[in-house]
Amino acid sequence: MTNSVTRHDAWNAGDSYDSYMGRWSRAIAPRFLDWLGAPDDQNWLDVGCGTGALSASILAQCQPRSLIAVDSSAGFLERARAATPHERAFFQVGDAQDLPLETASRDITVSALVLNFVHDKETMLAEMKRVTRPGGSVGLYVWDYPGGGVAFMRAFWAAAASLDAAAGDLAENKRFPYCTPDGLTALATNAGLASIACAPLEIATVFEDFDDLWRPFTLGAGPAPGYCATLSTDARERLKQALYDMLPHRDDGSIHLAARAWAIKARVA
Ligand SMILES: C[S@@+](CC[C@H](N)C(=O)[O-])C[C@H]1O[C@@H](n2cnc3c(N)ncnc32)[C@H](O)[C@@H]1O
Repeated sequence: MTNSVTRHDAWNAGDSYDSYMGRWSRAIAPRFLDWLGAPDDQNWLDVGCGTGALSASILAQCQPRSLIAVDSSAGFLERARAATPHERAFFQVGDAQDLPLETASRDITVSALVLNFVHDKETMLAEMKRVTRPGGSVGLYVWDYPGGGVAFMRAFWAAAASLDAAAGDLAENKRFPYCTPDGLTALATNAGLASIACAPLEIATVFEDFDDLWRPFTLGAGPAPGYCATLSTDARERLKQALYDMLPHRDDGSIHLAARAWAIKARVA
């Protein structure tokens, strides 16, 4: 399997992640939990919790008996821990491909926007299944990269590719082709999961002005900001202008776009 993690995937700075994607992952997490429809009083695991967007929603919406949140980045975990103080929540460093948990020890194992950044996706799903008890649930979601479902990201890469042909190969739609209903269902099937369902999750992404959209691309967390960080000042200014020209601006300067993720849920037989 090819390694989809490149030098452009900078995952360490919680602040910059929050202003780039974290604000949208916080908006989409409650939609996922509504769709998952899990009962109260369950033992949850959040794999790749990052700065805690899904963990916070689980604690707010699902009355968990306990929540363990695992991430490979100590910096992100520190931020999640500080943002989500809760007596039933435990945050620990760990790899999604080798989860530091006992077999069949969790009722519900979920993961938000992580699968595409993990080297061995099949092992990640097999691990999520392993740590979930028989009869329990596994669920995850990823942005709809292949369908261009994250409109501001699609616009960024279109602008980048208009100036730098090599940028097109770094765009998430090329790198994460399995982020589709068929791709995710196949991964879940191969992991031995049962009763697999898939659905789109959609949110509005409204930017108060162009700077609100552009600034997070200059901060360095994630593939597009990572690419931006490699550019000279002049090249970055050209990219900024090309992106500005491409976007729909309302009279008040705001930019209204949308983002879609694909979610799957399944049962452990
Ligand atoms: C896009 S962020 C998503 C964070 C959070 N789940 C959310 O919804 O905002 C991807 C996260 O996956 C984590 N990650 C990447 N590879 C990982 C791995 N092999 N094991 C555990 N976490 C991983 C990163 O550290 C990062 O926090």
